[in-house]
Amino acid sequence: MQKSKKTYFMFLWSFLLLLTLSCDNEEKISLIEGKTAIAEKAMVVTAHPEASKVGAKVLADGGNAIDAMVATHFALAVVYPSAGNIGGGGFMVYRDKDGNVSTLDFREKASFAASETMYQDDQGNVDVNASLYGVTSAGVPGSVAGMFEAHKKFGTIDMSLLIQPAIDLAKDGFKITAQQARNYNSLRKEFVENNRFPEKVALIKEGEWKEGDLLVQAELAKTLSRIQNDGVKGFYEGVTADLIVEEMDAGAGIMTHEDLKSYKAQWREPIVGEYKGYKVIGMGPPSSGGVALMQLLGIASHFDLKNSGHQTAETIHLMTEMERRVYADRAAHLGDPDFWDVPVAELLNGSYLSARADQIDPSIASKSEEVKALEINVVESEETTHYSIIDQFGNAVSLTTTINSAYGSKTFVSGAGFLLNNEMDDFSVKPGHPNKYGLLGGAANAIAPNKRMLSAMTPTIIEKDGMLKMVVGTPGGSTIITSVFQVILNVLEHDMSMTDAVAKRRFHHQWYPEDIQLEKDAITEDVRNQLAKMGHRFIDRGNIGRVDAILIQKDGKLEGAGDPRGDDYAVGY
Ligand code: DON
Repeated sequence: MQKSKKTYFMFLWSFLLLLTLSCDNEEKISLIEGKTAIAEKAMVVTAHPEASKVGAKVLADGGNAIDAMVATHFALAVVYPSAGNIGGGGFMVYRDKDGNVSTLDFREKASFAASETMYQDDQGNVDVNASLYGVTSAGVPGSVAGMFEAHKKFGTIDMSLLIQPAIDLAKDGFKITAQQARNYNSLRKEFVENNRFPEKVALIKEGEWKEGDLLVQAELAKTLSRIQNDGVKGFYEGVTADLIVEEMDAGAGIMTHEDLKSYKAQWREPIVGEYKGYKVIGMGPPSSGGVALMQLLGIASHFDLKNSGHQTAETIHLMTEMERRVYADRAAHLGDPDFWDVPVAELLNGSYLSARADQIDPSIASKSEEVKALEINVVESEETTHYSIIDQFGNAVSLTTTINSAYGSKTFVSGAGFLLNNEMDDFSVKPGHPNKYGLLGGAANAIAPNKRMLSAMTPTIIEKDGMLKMVVGTPGGSTIITSVFQVILNVLEHDMSMTDAVAKRRFHHQWYPEDIQLEKDAITEDVRNQLAKMGHRFIDRGNIGRVDAILIQKDGKLEGAGDPRGDDYAVGY
């Protein structure tokens, strides 16, 4: 009775607030938008224009960063199905206007029936398809629990109002971008092969998709309405849970009602580091992002990268050697802290990082086999998504979320209209067997019932002298950590605007493979030759990351930067 009264008043209050504010603000607040945007008060940057608009509207209507986050997250689940999700999970780093930090883990977990060798046959051969496609590849989703948990603690607008824009986008449809049309067309075969009722999958249509086509997702709208009406139970119990389990049972899936009902998002200790006077706030395990980024910055602080310059042979060599060492530590020591004793303090110890810096020869590439992990006694695709939010009060959210590969397991829950993740592949399915991203792992990240798979997601917030400075993050599997590292250095060491820092071509090293991975035109021929002389080898590849970030400029204005590599978009006021 008490609770329902409270809910009733909260709903009424937020409805009245929204009504008053939207009437009031209709003329006063006009949103500023673009691939990049400069605004005075508030900013939302996401991978899709429609989602950025939903989030910014919540802020303009008086909601805070967490309200905007919830509305944005559900909107992305509709307008950005490749990575936006209710069938996946993620990590939130939140810093309120007074500098208090909270970090939320809503990562997927393995089912109770999962086992260490579940993707191996009797001879120990790994079945990669089973960990990457269909119901067998899915971990128990965390996104819905995560949104409700964060909102319970910090939200001010009734949840049901925040989910409504997503329901409208799913029911009425939205116009897809050119990139999305290309995507849906090229993945048609995979969608058909991985779904029981292809004719009901909204992303599959007769003929070719083209830019501006309307994507309507009626089943998804119904699922979102169940969540709107019944809260977390609208996803983890009742009709939605029945549909998930039915999908599992129709294949070789192992997820049960019990797995779903018992899922809980977890508040975790943030990882906090320092880089040349800046305070850096990141996500702790089961993400490796925070620990690895702090290690990279800790080693980098022993060098003068400003002086050695952006994308020069010297700088790329030094950063590659740092990355080679940090990814070796990651493979050995990082996993779900509820199952594995992650030596965070040892990995971030100043003398250890200084010793790591000393090991780097300024002119010769190390051999990865000679680079060992910290001795004390363990990975990731190309589809995930990050969004950054700063509200008009000064609260900030940095959130990365994923269903692992683009469109996750490629399997939609029939009747519920959403994609299941294929996050199980982020576990080390067998010691020494590289995952989709070539990352290695061992016991720390072995599969166990109810355990969370290791992630590289690196949502990050930076402050200077107690003031918010930057919100940053990206997708990119194993390259997430090094992309965040580069964007931070581009701003702090190479004095770039956030727009430039995000746009600059990137490189990546992850211990194994031995080679430096390079985006097209990341370095000049001359720099390439110099690096080759030092002993480096290269892999030329496509885009690395899609960073969505916000920088507080010296004049106090907010610079929102959406990555030119995608449809990413900034909206603020
Ligand atoms: O959690 C992780 O680290 C991976 N599942 C992320 C995958 C990813 O970033 C794919 N996207 N571009």
